[in-house]
This record gives sequence, structure tokens and C-alpha cells, in this order.
Amino acid sequence: MRLGIVPEGIVDRIALASGQLPTPIVETFWGIALGRLIITGAQLGVFDALVEGEKTVEEIAEYTKCDPEGMETLLDALNGFGYLARSDGHFSLNKKSRKWLTKTSSSSMYDAIMFMSELWKMMEDMEQTIKSGKTTNLHYANKPPEFWERYMRGLATFAKYAGPEIVRKVPLKIKPKRLLGVGGGHASYSMAFCRKYPELKAEVLDLSGAVEQGKKIVKEQGLEDRVIFREGDLREAEWGEGYDLVLLFNVIHNISVEEAEQAMVKAYQALKPKGTFVILDSEHIGGKGNLSVTSGFNELLFFLLSSCRAYPEESIREWVTNAGFTKLRKRKLLAMPMTLLLIGERE
Ligand SMILES: C[S@@+](CC[C@H](N)C(=O)[O-])C[C@H]1O[C@@H](n2cnc3c(N)ncnc32)[C@H](O)[C@@H]1O
Repeated sequence: MRLGIVPEGIVDRIALASGQLPTPIVETFWGIALGRLIITGAQLGVFDALVEGEKTVEEIAEYTKCDPEGMETLLDALNGFGYLARSDGHFSLNKKSRKWLTKTSSSSMYDAIMFMSELWKMMEDMEQTIKSGKTTNLHYANKPPEFWERYMRGLATFAKYAGPEIVRKVPLKIKPKRLLGVGGGHASYSMAFCRKYPELKAEVLDLSGAVEQGKKIVKEQGLEDRVIFREGDLREAEWGEGYDLVLLFNVIHNISVEEAEQAMVKAYQALKPKGTFVILDSEHIGGKGNLSVTSGFNELLFFLLSSCRAYPEESIREWVTNAGFTKLRKRKLLAMPMTLLLIGERE
């Protein structure tokens, strides 16, 4: 998947084909603008203002408690980028903004967009970080509850969306009774498995900031009887034993190679014989050639956020196999095509 410059007419096409259009400027300027615009529109409630139907600038300004002139400029910009429709002095949602950006939509990405605004702040010192090579791991940085709330609710949004597909694509021979979600935070993937398997109970092991938010999210979903939390650092905590299913979703890129190898061994020990281990993480081809946008950018992102890297699939497979897992299977997800879903079985 790539972001690109899409010509809108014959002159645009010729300009692009001629090589005279300074594409890096377009990508830099519009790249900055687009992310900032969507975050601002969502945060100010612009998309929610239009759920019931079209509105004038003044009506949207009143709904969002904003200055009408400022709001008009934001609405025009959102229209220019194709996130709102504009006709006869009225603005309205289009298919994309209604589906993804309104809080009440069942596919709402609102919480994920709010997490993007945290990422925006964390990328501000990028030049300095790259220059010095000094990074910290956000998970151990005493971040306030407000950060953890955006972090967990943001990722829960992806999980709500992709969780059912993952559950469908993880074949289980026996009906699982006990699941361990390591670094499971918001617990949304654990809840997705619980919804499919009525006898399943889940335990989520995570750091205190994540657990605090995860408990609230699970309660909102009415699954607090089936999903419980354990506060702890996965590197030191006992993971326990006798589980049918262990999930390690989007965690490896937050820990070092040695810690990741150790985590695979702990996952093996935590499972019953024939138990299933599932890894979800950013896909990465290693050093072989050109990277996708996701793989390349995630390298940088995980370095900035966690002092870690996106590990190549080949390395992850090696660690999992060394820990003793067999029957490794990889699945592709339509909801998240750029991720690696790897399933293994304990002997
Ligand atoms: C990127 S989030 C993934 C959350 C969730 N598993 C998902 O896939 O959406 C990484 C999670 O790992 C947790 N985590 C990171 N380092 C950890 C550690 N040392 N011990 C326990 N949990 C950790 C974080 O708190 C967070 O919940």
C-alpha cells in the first residue's frame, strides 16, 4: 500500500509525466497538512457535527464551539482533500468520512486518530533523536494516564476491526478454555476470542498504565467476568502454565532481540501440549531489498518510541522454532494487510 499523488485532470497528468512537478514538495506539504487536518477535524467534532445531515459553516462552528472564519478554512481544506462534500454553502459527510471518522459509526477510527495525535507529538524531535541515536522506551517512561488512554483506545480500534478476522484465521483443534494475552493491554483481541469460544477465559499480562485502561475497556464490553488482568513486566513476570492459547500481539517490536527470544521460550512453557501460539506484528522482509511504506516507517517509529526495531519475519520464525514450536503457519489479513500473523503449535 502506498500513498501517492493522483492527477485530477489532463494538465496534472502532463505535469506529473513531464517530471517538472516538484513531487517531494507536494508530498512534504500535503503529507504534513493531511494528517494534521484529519486530526483537527476529528478532535473538534467536525465529522460528528454532520452525522444528521449537511450544515452551513455557521451551524458547524456553533456545534463545535469554534470561530466561524477559522472553521470555514478547516472545512474548505477538508473538502479539498476529499474528506467533506461542499455544495451551495453547505458541507456534508461523504462515504469515507461517515464510515471512518464519525464517533458513532461502527467502523469509527476516531480513537485511532486521537492516538495519531500522540504520535505526532512524539515525532517532533525526530532530527535530534536520529542525530544522537538516543531514544527511550515509552513503556517505561512514566507516561500519564491520559497518554495510556489514547494509546490503548487507539489500538483497541484496530483490534475491534481486525479481531474477528484474526479469530477466524486462527484454527483451533480443541475449544480453548484458557488464553494468555501477553502485552494484551486493551484486551480487545482476547475479547474477540472469548466471543467466539463461550467457555474461554482470558488473562492479560501488561504494564500498570495499560492494565488500568484495559480494565475500563473490558468493563464497557461487559466481559469483566471472563477477562482478568495481571500487572507485570513480561520480561520478569512468571507467565504461568496450562494455557490453550498464548497471544503476543504487537509486542515484539517493543523489546530487544534477547528479550524476544526469551519471550518465545516463556510462551512455549506457558502452553499445554498442542497449545497454540499466535504472533501478530509488523511485517518486515529483512535486508533483502526495498521495503514497503509500513515496514520502512515502522522501523523508524519503533526506534523513536521503543528504542527497538521491526524484526524481520525470518528472525521471528527462527526464535519461534528455536523455542520448540512446530507447524508454523502464516496468514494474511484483509483488515491489516501489512501485518504478519504467525501461528505455531507446542509439541
Ligand atoms: C503496541 S501495544 C500492543 C497492544 C495489543 N497487544 C495490540 O496488539 O493492540 C504493546 C503492548 O505491549 C505492552 N508492553 C510493552 N512492553 C511491555 C513489558 N515489558 N511488559 C508487559 N507489557 C509490555 C504495552 O503496554 C502495550 O500494551
